[in-house]
Amino acid sequence: MALASSIFFSPAANAVTVPIRFTATAATPTPRLVLVRANNASASASASGRTRTLEECEAAAVAGNFPAPPPHSKPPGPKGTPLIKPLDLTRRPRRNRKSPTLRSAFQETTLSPANFVLPLFIHEGEEDAPIGAMPGCFRLGWRHGLIDEVYKARDVGVNSFVLFPKIPDALKSPTGDEAYNDNGLVPRTIRLLKDKFPDIVIYTDVALDPYSSDGHDGIVREDGVIMNDETVHQLCKQAVSQARAGADVVSPSDMMDGRVGALRAALDAEGFHDVSIMSYTAKYASAFYGPFREALDSNPRFGDKKTYQMNPANYREALIEAEADEAEGADILLVKPGLPYTDVIRLLRDNSALPIAAYQVSGEYSMIKAAGVLKMIDEERVMMESLMCIRRAGADIILSYFARQAAGILCGVKSN
Ligand code: PBG
Repeated sequence: MALASSIFFSPAANAVTVPIRFTATAATPTPRLVLVRANNASASASASGRTRTLEECEAAAVAGNFPAPPPHSKPPGPKGTPLIKPLDLTRRPRRNRKSPTLRSAFQETTLSPANFVLPLFIHEGEEDAPIGAMPGCFRLGWRHGLIDEVYKARDVGVNSFVLFPKIPDALKSPTGDEAYNDNGLVPRTIRLLKDKFPDIVIYTDVALDPYSSDGHDGIVREDGVIMNDETVHQLCKQAVSQARAGADVVSPSDMMDGRVGALRAALDAEGFHDVSIMSYTAKYASAFYGPFREALDSNPRFGDKKTYQMNPANYREALIEAEADEAEGADILLVKPGLPYTDVIRLLRDNSALPIAAYQVSGEYSMIKAAGVLKMIDEERVMMESLMCIRRAGADIILSYFARQAAGILCGVKSN
C-alpha cells in the first residue's frame, strides 16, 4: 500500500484501457507493484481521456494487444491514513453496494407510478383555490382544474384518483344527507371523469365529515356521542350513490364498527358486485390531518375523533380492525397516516394476504414541502425516500399528494 503512493491514478485507470499492469500475490500483505507494459495505442487513448471505440478494441484484440486487467491494488488514502493489516472478515456487505449496477440488481423494493393514488380536492367553483397549509395543492374546479390535473397525472402514469369534496356550509346538516345526493358534487364529478377518461380508477371517500354540520364522520347525538349504526346506514346510501355514478373503489374512512360488511351488502343488493371496498382499517386519531381539514373546512365543530379513530399509541388493536375488515369482505386494507405508522403497515402486510394501502397524509406532505421551501432538506429526495420507505414497510399502493410529482421523477420528467 505504501508503494502505491508513488503511482499516479487517473480516473481512466479503472477503465479496461488502463496501460499499466500491477502484479501482486495474494499471500504478500503489501503487494509489490511492477510496471509491466505501456501499450502505445491505449496509452494515447487514455492520455486523450477518451475510451476506445468497439472497433479499436476489436482491432487491438486481433493484433493480440489485450488490455491489462485492472490493478489488484488501491490508490493510497490521504496523508495520515493509518497503515493497518486488513480486518479478517468473511462478510463484507459493502461488496454488494460497490457499483450502481450491483446496487440496482439487489434493490429489494421499487416505486412505480402504478403504485400511486392521487388525492384530489374538488369544489363547485370555476377557479382553482390554493390551499394555504398545503403548498402546491389546490381545491380544483370540478369542470376545469380537475380535468387538467387528471390529464397531467395520466401523462406520468398515474391513473388512480381519490376525490375529496369541499361542500358549501348551506348543504351541510347534522345527518349529512348531501352525502348521498346523486346529483351532488362527487357523483357529478365521477360521471364527468368517467366520461372523459373511461379507463381511470376512481376511489371515493365514504364518511360524513365533508357533509356534516358538526364536522364529524358520523351523526352526533345530543350528548356528543357519534352514533355508530345510524351512521353506517347513511354511509351505505353514500357508497351506493357513488357506485351508481361509476366509482370503482369506495373507501370508508369513518371508522364506524361494521361498516365494511354493511357496505358490501348494500352494494351487492344494488348489483354493484364489482365495486371494491378499500377499508381505512387502521386510521389513527392523528394531528397529521390538520392541513386536510383546513383544505375542506371540515374541522370538528367540537371535541375530537378519538371515540372512533384509533389511539396512536396502539399497535395490536390494528389486528382487531384488520380481522374484522377481512371477514366483512374488504378488498384492500389501508393504514393512515403513512410514514409515522410503517410498523402498522408491516403488521398488516404480515397478517393479511390482501393488498395493503397506505395514506401519506396532508401533514406528512406539508412537512416535507415546508422544509423543502426553507431549504432545510432536499424536497425531491426526501419525497422519494419517504414513498420508498412506505413501500418497503409493505404497502402495495400509496395515496399521496406527491403522486404526480413523484411519478414525474420516475418517468424522467419534471412536473410543474
Ligand atoms: C375524513 C378524512 C380525513 C382524511 C381523509 N379522510 C380527515 C379526518 O379523518 O379528519 C385525512 C387525509 C389527510 O390528512 O390527508 N374522513
